[in-house]
Amino acid sequence: MNDNEEFITKSELGTKQFWDQFYDEELTNFNDFGDSGETWFGKRNTRKIIDWMKENHSKNDAICDIGCGNGFVLAQLAQHNFSNLYGLDYSEKAIEFCQKQHNQSNIHFKVVNILDDDFQFNHKFDAIIDKGTYDAICLMPDADIHENRTKYLKFLCDNLGNNGHFIIITCNFTKEEIFKFLSISNNIFNSYMNSTHQRYRLVVMLENRLPD
Ligand SMILES: C[S@@+](CC[C@H](N)C(=O)[O-])C[C@H]1O[C@@H](n2cnc3c(N)ncnc32)[C@H](O)[C@@H]1O
Repeated sequence: MNDNEEFITKSELGTKQFWDQFYDEELTNFNDFGDSGETWFGKRNTRKIIDWMKENHSKNDAICDIGCGNGFVLAQLAQHNFSNLYGLDYSEKAIEFCQKQHNQSNIHFKVVNILDDDFQFNHKFDAIIDKGTYDAICLMPDADIHENRTKYLKFLCDNLGNNGHFIIITCNFTKEEIFKFLSISNNIFNSYMNSTHQRYRLVVMLENRLPD
């Protein structure tokens, strides 16, 4: 391994089977005890996203959470009066859990594999949020990580509007690695707006500068 290569181990966290089982258990806990589930990376990081969105977006902007899990980020955005929210996850169990827990008209949940070539919305998003999903995708066993990264970038390029924001929270990559990855595709995310480190968690906000 040379200095430019990342060290990435493969893990069950990169499999759909793991997430289906995880959200199946979360759904059971919610049904039995009203437990709203795990807040991935803690509530502090979710607050950071909400605060930043309040400062940089209007309440009717189209905002998409890719790999939305239990939908907590979107529910928090809705509580702060954001009204045009989309949650995508490839786990049917995750989406079932979201729909059961956050059954409200301002959040649209959908089962979508964001690496699926054929998927495209009929409109662009003003912001795309990723909290832990890119991390999970890069851990996928028996997969071509380069191909998956290309597909992930394609999803962003196809679905993020010009001057839209991409907000990523990761625990597996450094700022430099995230920038290197994002600059592969013609420097779409050349505008680095903000980043903070919090106990191994990196929060990066970037602006898309590609014309539509
Ligand atoms: C670490 S969890 C984070 C969940 C959520 N963002 C949160 O912060 O609680 C990763 C999520 O990404 C979803 N995921 C992984 N690969 C995906 C893909 N290709 N398309 C859509 N969702 C995916 C998983 O089902 C899981 O919900």
